[in-house]
Amino acid sequence: MRGNFLNWVTVFSRLNCKCRSNSHAFTTSLRGKSYYVTTPIFYVNSQPHLGHLYTATLADVAGRWQRLKNGKEVVFATGTDEHGQKIQEAAAEEEMEPKSFCDKVSGRYKDLYELCNIDYTDFIRTTDTRHKEAVHAFWKILEDKGYIYKGSYEGWYSTQDENFVTELQTKISAGHRISIESGHKVEWVKENNYVFRLSAVIDEVKTWARQNPSCVYPAKFHRVLLENLDAMTGDISISRESSRVSWGIETPSDSTQTVYVWLDALINYLTVAGFPDVNGERFQTTWPANCHIIGHDILKFHAIYWPAFLIAAGLDLPKQIVVHSHWLMNRRKMSKSLGNVINPFNVANSVSGERLKYFLIKQGVLEHDCDFTHHLLLQSVNGDLCNSLGNCLHRAVAPKLNPDQIYTNFYKDCYPKLISFSDKASGEKPSGLINLVQKLPDDVNKFCEDFHFYKAAEAIMECVRESNLLIHRNKTWRLDLHNARDKKLNDTALHCVYETLRVCGILLQPFVPCIANDMLDRLNVQHHERTFLHATKSFYGYGNSAEACPMTGRKLGKNRGVLIKKVSKIKF
Ligand code: ME8
Ligand code: MG
Repeated sequence: MRGNFLNWVTVFSRLNCKCRSNSHAFTTSLRGKSYYVTTPIFYVNSQPHLGHLYTATLADVAGRWQRLKNGKEVVFATGTDEHGQKIQEAAAEEEMEPKSFCDKVSGRYKDLYELCNIDYTDFIRTTDTRHKEAVHAFWKILEDKGYIYKGSYEGWYSTQDENFVTELQTKISAGHRISIESGHKVEWVKENNYVFRLSAVIDEVKTWARQNPSCVYPAKFHRVLLENLDAMTGDISISRESSRVSWGIETPSDSTQTVYVWLDALINYLTVAGFPDVNGERFQTTWPANCHIIGHDILKFHAIYWPAFLIAAGLDLPKQIVVHSHWLMNRRKMSKSLGNVINPFNVANSVSGERLKYFLIKQGVLEHDCDFTHHLLLQSVNGDLCNSLGNCLHRAVAPKLNPDQIYTNFYKDCYPKLISFSDKASGEKPSGLINLVQKLPDDVNKFCEDFHFYKAAEAIMECVRESNLLIHRNKTWRLDLHNARDKKLNDTALHCVYETLRVCGILLQPFVPCIANDMLDRLNVQHHERTFLHATKSFYGYGNSAEACPMTGRKLGKNRGVLIKKVSKIKF
């Protein structure tokens, strides 16, 4: 039995922790499609803030989860959106050449990802040569198929949103005309532009949206999409006059026009997949994307314009667009234009990037905006990770409770006694630890597939709290280890905690890879024993006495002292 366990398929064991996160040499065991997840490419008009890190964190966990669960090759693309009027103006304001300005801010995104261990595989910049080629190829396909015509375009334009809106979508506020949706200022623009025949494909977009209720997830945002689609009429401008917007990709056959920044930006998802080489291996294994993760502010571009462009070009549509809500500060959207942003560098430097990401995962809910508070942050980084998880591990591996420093034995006859303890004063029920842990992998799987990462984290923490209670209620530190009966009780209690932490540690890898790695090291769980499959098998020796535990008797890992320290102060 022990041999079987140790020899389980190890092809899935690609370490999710920082130590190996930059080696994407996962090539041997790959078959078929990879899992392709994206974030938006962020504007470089100002520094990354907590909202951007949130989207990147969701994609990071999604990718790590797919690797853990399915052993899939993950293509995780993120990057920066560097063209257009808004960037041109931001660079001018800083008195910098647009390209050097872009280099500077784009680099800050990379710095943030490094600090927070965001495990992306491709960082795309719209100023990359490969991207320019993809945009030109895409444009030519649309042109050849008759989807582009030259027209005179006029309307209200918001530079902040880089978007034309109709008069009905604007209102006057404090003497300015603004976009009702975003609240950003608009100005009247009249230009000769190239126009995309959205009207020719909009019905197909509607059919796709209606027939695939999960194409935009969660349902709340699918409903928003259907409402927006109903209001969609006319064609859209897909270029700007170079005299006005010079900082952009020139249209392939007309140097007086630059490509509209949203068309330019959306094509990034294809560039990463190897477009225009549509017959190449990369494109074949990567496209269509499994999941575009976005904030709801850019739903229209991703769920209407993007499918429309792809349908016109004859390419497959992404499988799913996962939409999240916004982080707020004092109930207003955290945004660079409002200047009410939390600087993620400061927070990550004071609590660690991993703990900051854990907070975002634990508190963020796709459907609802969430107000950022200092209190919430401290509570989640200290409560779950330090007080529950850290504490549980430290007390259970303490040499005082475990002088031999081995993975102790489970005595079947002791377990009922351990869980029969019911705290009369508090009315707490006996622990159902084993049942909880045995159903945990299924629960976590379900939650992660639904992007309910906070529920997955909570389910794991519930098991950790239960095992803390097991020790606490039985006051194992009072047992006399020289007395055979007490020793057996103590060993069984510790075994239960170790098994819980082993399973939880494996499942926590996508969420807190470094902490999980340290924990599993301390329990001496080998790297090839850290796959999802290994979490689905827990060895309490209870209910199936024939099955021996491959861990029992093994030396614990090296004692490196306190693994998760309490945070008392956060610098913003
Ligand atoms: O829209 N809460 O870039 P952008 C949560 N370049 N997420 C937030 C947030 C907040 N308060 N603020 C921003 C663009 N985000 C285009 C995208 S893609 C082809 C082109 C996140 O820099 C969220 O993901 O304005 C949102 O959709 C995105 O940043 C907007 O980033
Ligand atoms: Mg924005």
